[in-house]
Amino acid sequence: MATQDELKQQVAKAAAEYVKGGIIGVGTGSTANFFIDELAKVKSKIDGAVASSEATAQRLRNHGINVLDLNNVGPGEMQIYVDGADEITEHFHMLKGGGGALTREKVVAAVAEKFICICDASKLVPVLGKFPLPVEVLPMARSQVARELVKMGGQPRLRDFTTDNGNVILDVHGLNILDPVAMEAQINQIVGVVTNGLFAARPADVLLLGTADGVKTYTR
Ligand code: A5P
Repeated sequence: MATQDELKQQVAKAAAEYVKGGIIGVGTGSTANFFIDELAKVKSKIDGAVASSEATAQRLRNHGINVLDLNNVGPGEMQIYVDGADEITEHFHMLKGGGGALTREKVVAAVAEKFICICDASKLVPVLGKFPLPVEVLPMARSQVARELVKMGGQPRLRDFTTDNGNVILDVHGLNILDPVAMEAQINQIVGVVTNGLFAARPADVLLLGTADGVKTYTR
């Protein structure tokens, strides 16, 4: 039986088949890292990549892939954004940010035409929220935001981590996220929140799921 890493490698390979040229948006995390290694094999086809974190930028550069500034990418120039997820539902709503890169991930994904989510089958869940929801917060606002998150029924815990943007992360436990689109908007309304890890307003377009029976492709 394939290990979790083998499943991640298989979906990374499957995602590389979507690389036709142009500029590629690249996510963050262990599954995205496998994708970067696959992207390196077809790097002559592309103009460059936009990274969703400093760690991803470094890995891309180590492979000799040109890392571009998102501000120089025009509408329609980035066909695909490829990234993992901590949880995903059959509606393609995702919970992300386990690696702390949620804000840049959401920004890069917003520019891409198509979001391709790559993950192993353990990430497919009926309801989001078993994995604590990461919320990136301005450091000065962390106590106030935490109080607001408690009012929403969550138990926020400060992660011992500073984001690439110089902010902190509250991991919110105990949420049963039945309406991810509404909750994404509601948390973003709290003053001091930079981004939350719900990717529901802009869900994935394609899910490449690594299973014991091979890679399954789902399209929204
Ligand atoms: C990074 O901030 C996250 O959003 C990752 O995309 C997510 O945590 C998935 O990571 P793995 O591929 O390592 O499970």
